[in-house]
Amino acid sequence: MSLSSRSIEHPSHSLGSASAAASVNIALIKYWGKADVDSNRPAVGSLSLTLDEWGSETTVTWLEKKESRAEHRFILNGQERLDSKVNKLLTHLLQYAEAEGHSWAKQGQVSAVVESKNTVPTASGLASSASGMAALGLAAWSALGWPNPSLNNDIHGGSQLIDLVRIGSGSAVRSLKGGLVRLESDGRTMTQLCERDEWSLALVICIVDPGPKAISSREGMERTRLTSPYYDRWVSSHPHDLNAATEAVNERDLGKLGELMEHSTFKMHAAMWSAKPPLRYLKAKSLMILDEVEQLRSRGSAAWATMDAGPHVKILCERSEAAHIATHMKSIIGQRSVLIRHPGRAAHIIGEKRDV
Ligand code: DP6
Repeated sequence: MSLSSRSIEHPSHSLGSASAAASVNIALIKYWGKADVDSNRPAVGSLSLTLDEWGSETTVTWLEKKESRAEHRFILNGQERLDSKVNKLLTHLLQYAEAEGHSWAKQGQVSAVVESKNTVPTASGLASSASGMAALGLAAWSALGWPNPSLNNDIHGGSQLIDLVRIGSGSAVRSLKGGLVRLESDGRTMTQLCERDEWSLALVICIVDPGPKAISSREGMERTRLTSPYYDRWVSSHPHDLNAATEAVNERDLGKLGELMEHSTFKMHAAMWSAKPPLRYLKAKSLMILDEVEQLRSRGSAAWATMDAGPHVKILCERSEAAHIATHMKSIIGQRSVLIRHPGRAAHIIGEKRDV
C-alpha cells in the first residue's frame, strides 16, 4: 500500500510526522456495548483475528499553528472529510500531552494533518474503523516522537496508546497486535493468544453489499444498551464465551472455537434485533449464506460463520479448506463477492520524520 493522495501543503512549521500501517481485525467473540461512553470503555471483552492485506495506511503531520484557528484536517483516500472520531482521538492526544507538561500541546497551538488510505471498504461492517483508528493512533503518537509500547510482547493496562486508540474505536485496539488477540473488558489489557503463523486459519469473506451501513456501531451499541431486554444477559453471559474461546485457541480446537464464535455472533444479533427500533444489519442474502455454511458443515467441512454490524458473512476455516469453501460460495453469490484473508500482522510504523 502506498499513499497516492496529492501531497498536502503544510504552511505552518512541522513538529514531526509519522506513518503507520494497520490491518483490520474481525471479532470471533464480539464486543458490543459500552460501560463508559466518554472513554469508550467496552462492557465486554472480545477475541479477534487480525487479517492480512486489508487495512489502513496513515500519515500524521503535527503543525505548529501561527494562526489562532487550529483545526485538524483529515484526508481519506484523497478526499478531505470531517470525522468526529478522528477529531476526538487527536484532541484526546493533545489533552494528554498537555497534562504531561508539554506546553506546545495547549489547545489552539498545534494541529494535525492526517492523510489516510483504506484498502478495505469504509464503514460497511468490514472493520475499516479498526484499522483506520489503529493506524491513526499509532501515527499520531509516534509523530510526537514517543515510543511505541505496543511493540512489547505483553500489553497490560496503563498503556496510553491503547487508551488513545480506543477513543477512536473500541475494536481498533486489537489491531495493535497480530494473529489472535484477546482484549479484556477494561478495554486496555490485551493478550496475543496466537501469532499469525502459529495456526493456519483463514476467513472466507462473503461481501453482501459494499455500501456504507445505515447505523454506526457506536449508535447501534447505545440503542441496544438502552432498549434491548436482552442486553443485560448478553453482557452477563459473555465472560463464559470469552474464556471458553480462549481455551479453544490454546487447544487449537477449531470446532470448539467455531461453535463459540457463531454463538457469540447470534447472541449479539439477537440483542440488536430486540432493540427499539430494531437494528437489522443482516440482509436476506446474509441468511442465505448462513444456510450454505450449515450445508457445508453437514457435508464435512469445518466452516463457521460470523457477522458484524453489517450484512457480510465471514467464514472461519482452516487455510487448507479456504479455496474449496470460496469456490462454493462464489458459485452461489458471484466471483467478485468472495475473498480469502489470512491472519495478519500487528500495526507498525512505516516512516518517521522529526523536524525539531
Ligand atoms: C460488531 O469498534 O466500531 O464489529 O468502539 O463505537 O468505535 P466503537 O465501535 P466499533 O465496534 C465494533 C463492533 C463489532 C464487533 C467487534 O469488532 O468486536
